[in-house]
Amino acid sequence: MTTTPPAAAPVPAPIYVTQPFLPDLAEFQPYLEQIWSNKILTNGGPFHQQLEKALCEHLGVEHIALFTNGTLALVTALQALRITGEVITTPYSFVATAHSLLWNGIKPVFVDIDPQTLNLDPRRIEAAITPQTTAILPVHCYGHPCDVDAIQKMADNYNLKVIYDAAHAFGVQTTPGTSVLRFGDLSVLSFHATKVFNTFEGGAIVCPDAKTKQRIDHLKNFGFVDEVTVVAPGINGKMSELNASFGLLQLKHIDAAMARRATIAARYRAALAEVPGIRCVGDAGEAVANHSYFPILIEPDFPLSRDALYQRLREHNIFPRRYFYPLISDFPMYRGLPSAAPGNLPVASEIARKVLCLPIYPALSDADQDRVVAQIRACAGM
Ligand SMILES: Cc1ncc(COP(=O)(O)O)c(C=O)c1O
Repeated sequence: MTTTPPAAAPVPAPIYVTQPFLPDLAEFQPYLEQIWSNKILTNGGPFHQQLEKALCEHLGVEHIALFTNGTLALVTALQALRITGEVITTPYSFVATAHSLLWNGIKPVFVDIDPQTLNLDPRRIEAAITPQTTAILPVHCYGHPCDVDAIQKMADNYNLKVIYDAAHAFGVQTTPGTSVLRFGDLSVLSFHATKVFNTFEGGAIVCPDAKTKQRIDHLKNFGFVDEVTVVAPGINGKMSELNASFGLLQLKHIDAAMARRATIAARYRAALAEVPGIRCVGDAGEAVANHSYFPILIEPDFPLSRDALYQRLREHNIFPRRYFYPLISDFPMYRGLPSAAPGNLPVASEIARKVLCLPIYPALSDADQDRVVAQIRACAGM
């Protein structure tokens, strides 16, 4: 007698923390045809110029300079304002924030974060200021705005520049009609594939005046002003026409993409509200949020540790990410700094141990989101 072996349970498709938004390929075709026909691939071509203009309008800012990526934009922003010495920044971010300082020979000084917003805590900035401090480099973490007024007050009192790492903050408004990118001296965006608005790779510096924009444009083009004049040891940070044209196409879809993210975030909040030991990180009072991430904190009353939950989800083909763990201040090139001592950063250290970012992206289906929630609830015995 032959017996048929039981069918193996189907392996559910993987759900990653994010998935880049890609319009139909056919929609991109006309842009490619245009590039092929005019044969301008980079160096501030027509799509580059159009995207700068379109982004200024969309974001409600005065000037924008497009870049190859957000990291080069950060490095260049510091150059543009001639920042030197020491810069106060957050340990709770992607490592590029602090790396941009090291690339400029600047010493990062880490200051702890606010336990609610998870952004640089303005109340702790003053104690970190020394005669060498020249600037503050805060991050609008997860797109949640920093306390921009308190930070500006501190900067004004001590004559410091403020450069916001706004890599996560595309489209965020502090009050209706006021972009978060309008605060500080400069703001830096990332258009990396994982971001709310992506150009595959890309980034930008937002600046308030034409003169600064011109300096940034020179710096991102090797320092060239014209064919024979080089005014600074600039870098090659130019965005290509391929990336810029894709950005123009993305802009057509961004409102729908942001709306879908808001729906997903609201569904998570409702579904996780009753789960003991799970705390959803709240917005920071923004009028328009972009829901670029969905961070939760795993508190001690949850039956599993953060890392055990992370592993359990992975076993079920769900891939959340521990953004931001480890802290930047724990990486080898930073941990010797006095400000990197965990005792100086108790809030950031605790949050880094508890945080887990759940999958959120426009194409995440309700069914897949329900799978994520069901696993978390199962771990809580619900
Ligand atoms: C906070 C933050 N800063 C800087 C960057 C660097 O941007 P990019 O990857 O475009 O170089 C990123 C993301 O990648 C980021 O999340």
